[in-house]
Amino acid sequence: MTDTFTEPRLTARNLELERGERLLFTGLGFDAAPGTLVRLAGANGTGKTSLLRLLTGLMQPDAGEVLYKGASIAKLREDYARDLVYIGHMNGVKDDLSAVENVRIAARMGNIIAPETALVDALSRVGLADFTDHLTGELSQGQRRRVALARLFVSTSKPVWILDEPFVALDAASVCNLAQTIADHARAGGIVIYTTHQECDIPIEPEHMMTVDVSAFAPGRVRKPAAQGEGSHA
Ligand SMILES: Nc1ncnc2c1ncn2[C@@H]1O[C@H](COP(=O)(O)OP(=O)(O)OP(=O)(O)O)[C@@H](O)[C@H]1O
Ligand SMILES: [Mg+2]
Repeated sequence: MTDTFTEPRLTARNLELERGERLLFTGLGFDAAPGTLVRLAGANGTGKTSLLRLLTGLMQPDAGEVLYKGASIAKLREDYARDLVYIGHMNGVKDDLSAVENVRIAARMGNIIAPETALVDALSRVGLADFTDHLTGELSQGQRRRVALARLFVSTSKPVWILDEPFVALDAASVCNLAQTIADHARAGGIVIYTTHQECDIPIEPEHMMTVDVSAFAPGRVRKPAAQGEGSHA
């Protein structure tokens, strides 16, 4: 199923965040037009995961704001959350549920009406067709990660995907599969914001890509413009 979206523009404006009494970044901004993949780059500890949490609305910045379709996400709240899928560092899957039960619950929590066949299909898309009824706690780390990622296949109607290191623990074929899924989402007009430490080719035209180097916004650093050929910036 291919969904198309009406202008899911996401703008970070002048963001500043302190954590553990350390100023992680200041003056951080970008403007992701519909159909943009935003890769957050930067070394361990620069604040990529923290920035993703700001972009979900789970955490508040010390300064600046995040806008969705031109309105502050702090004001939109549920209206923004409804359009969003966030798959964090941790898998967010429950070990005592089966793979299919986990996808079903995730779909329900995201207000997605998915028939049983769609849940099984989502697991097949991540190579878990033979594991739908297995307890998640008995799966390998990479398989558990795939259960979490199966949510994406029942979330194609959600315009904004925020993914923290989605490629970790996946085998080569699954990495390619996921890269294709992410590219398809952007081509349909969605926005995907993700972090990765792996060099990973997402099969998409450069005009859909934007890189935001979080370390460039660390205090005291000379700011570089975000990488070019890759969308527009605030
Ligand atoms: N719950 C917390 N309380 C206080 N400080 C935190 C908390 N979580 C993270 N930090 C600090 O914020 C900084 C940025 O962490 P964050 O997880 O955002 O980095 P990251 O860029 O995602 O790193 P990695 O590449 O290792 O995933 C780190 O210095 C970390 O110690
Ligand atoms: Mg992180």
